[in-house]
Amino acid sequence: MTVHIITIDGPSGSGKGTLAAKMAKHYGYHLLDSGALYRLLGLSLHQKELLDALDTRLDECVEIATHLDIKFETKDETTAIILDGVDVTQTIRTERVGEFASKVATIPELRKALFDRQRAFIQSPGLVADGRDMATAIFPEAQAKIYLTASAESRAERRVKQLQAMGLDVKMSDILANIQARDKRDMERAVAPLRPAQDAYQIDSSDLSIDEVFELMTRYVNSRIEA
Ligand code: DC
Repeated sequence: MTVHIITIDGPSGSGKGTLAAKMAKHYGYHLLDSGALYRLLGLSLHQKELLDALDTRLDECVEIATHLDIKFETKDETTAIILDGVDVTQTIRTERVGEFASKVATIPELRKALFDRQRAFIQSPGLVADGRDMATAIFPEAQAKIYLTASAESRAERRVKQLQAMGLDVKMSDILANIQARDKRDMERAVAPLRPAQDAYQIDSSDLSIDEVFELMTRYVNSRIEA
């Protein structure tokens, strides 16, 4: 039986995370939040004081990436993310850890170390994979490839709301600057830069609601899966 793979790539704040979870639920598929893996690796290397030694102690970092002790514990509607036995679900969503992740993501050897871990998510009946290079590097065989984007301003607005809902005190100008810097780094890096796959279905969510994007996505995926 074919295991269907749906990839959803795009910059952070485009609504990818919410939509990937909604799509996985709708189709009854597994979900890979690949950004969480980069965040976990960033956090782990930071905790081990290796984040500033990526060049000089790369072998050690690769070893850590390969054996990262992570668990995704889903209960009811929520998933707790556990690193080395500690619940870091909230911690990894902070801007700071986002910066760690973005740094780690520029290192080819570390991306390679996470490759097999991501491929292991291919399980029947299907997978929704959320990230930056899901279609271009990790799952090029995916039946449905979606590239979801939105203007930097609308993404910053959403991010501010999200962080405020978590009780964090944030400034719009800081968030926008962070998003622009991270976009630049993600798009200009030499390895697996953020870009749409040639055969991706592109959606700009700037002026669309979650439900409207969901509708476009499911229509596209149904046509790809039935084809
Ligand atoms: O989607 P996110 O914000 O959780 O991702 C965190 C960082 O990880 C982001 O700067 C880009 C990087 N990333 C990546 O390079 N490749 C992926 N497949 C997912 C995330």
